[in-house]
Amino acid sequence: MTTPPTNDAAIAQWNRIPREVLEAMEPDGDFAKRHLVNPVLLRMLGDVRGRRILDAGCGHGYFSRLLADRGARVTGVEPTDTMFGYAQEKERALGQGIRYVQADLTRLPALGDPFDAVVCSMVLPAIPDWKPALRACVQALRPGGLFVFSVNHPAFEMLLTTWREHGDYRLHRYLEEYPIPQLRATDFHRPLSAYLNELAALGCRLREIAEPGLDPRTAREAQDTTPGIESYVHLPNFLIAAAERP
Ligand SMILES: C[S@@+](CC[C@H](N)C(=O)[O-])C[C@H]1O[C@@H](n2cnc3c(N)ncnc32)[C@H](O)[C@@H]1O
Repeated sequence: MTTPPTNDAAIAQWNRIPREVLEAMEPDGDFAKRHLVNPVLLRMLGDVRGRRILDAGCGHGYFSRLLADRGARVTGVEPTDTMFGYAQEKERALGQGIRYVQADLTRLPALGDPFDAVVCSMVLPAIPDWKPALRACVQALRPGGLFVFSVNHPAFEMLLTTWREHGDYRLHRYLEEYPIPQLRATDFHRPLSAYLNELAALGCRLREIAEPGLDPRTAREAQDTTPGIESYVHLPNFLIAAAERP
C-alpha cells in the first residue's frame, strides 16, 4: 500500500523552487497568470482599496504585491522558507506594507481581524489535506466576505502537454483522486464537485464560476514560443470561483 502524501512532504517539494524561477515570474506571474488568471481574480475581487485581503498560499507574493499596488491591506501566508523569504525580501525593498506570515493553511495562526476577502490562487490542488485549508480560508473571512480561488481546471489538467502530444485533449480518470506530477511539485486531482460541495458544506454562496479562454490573437503571437498554446483558446485551463461567506 502506498503511503498517502502529507502536507509537509508537499511543502518540502515547493521549497526547492529555484530563485531564478521566482524572479522570472516578476512582476505579475507567468504567461498563463497574466492572460487568464490575474484579470479574472482582480475583476472578481473588485475595488480593493482599503480592504483587508488574505493571499492564502501566496508563494513568492506577486499577487499580494498586485493587490497592495491597488490599495489593499494585504496579508500573505506561505509555508516554504524559499518563497516566504523571497516575498519578505521584496517587501523590505518595496515597502508596500504587506504582512507575510509563514504557515501551513491547515495550521493557521490567529491573523487578527477577519478579512474582507481571501484569495487562494492555485493552492488547493497543491495541498494533500485540502479540506481544512479551505475551511481555514472561509473562517478567516468576515460574514459576507468574499472567497476567490483558482485551480487548474479539473476536467482539463495537463492541457498543454496533452494537446502537444495528441493535438487534442484526453482524460481517463476524472472521478478519482490522484497525484499529478508537475514540473516542480506534485498537484492532486479532485473532481470539480469536491471543491464546490465543500464550499456548499461550509455554507458559502457561490457568486460566480469563470472558465477563461485565451484571446486567439494572443495565442497566435505566442505559438512559436509555446507550441500547443491554441489549446487555451478552445478549452479552459483554469477554473476560478468566487463565493461569499454567510
Ligand atoms: C502553484 S503555487 C501558487 C502560489 C501563488 N498563489 C501564486 O499564484 O503564485 C502553490 C503554492 O501553495 C503553497 N502551499 C503548498 N502547501 C501549502 C499549505 N499546506 N499551506 C499553504 N500553502 C501551501 C506552496 O508553497 C506554493 O506557494
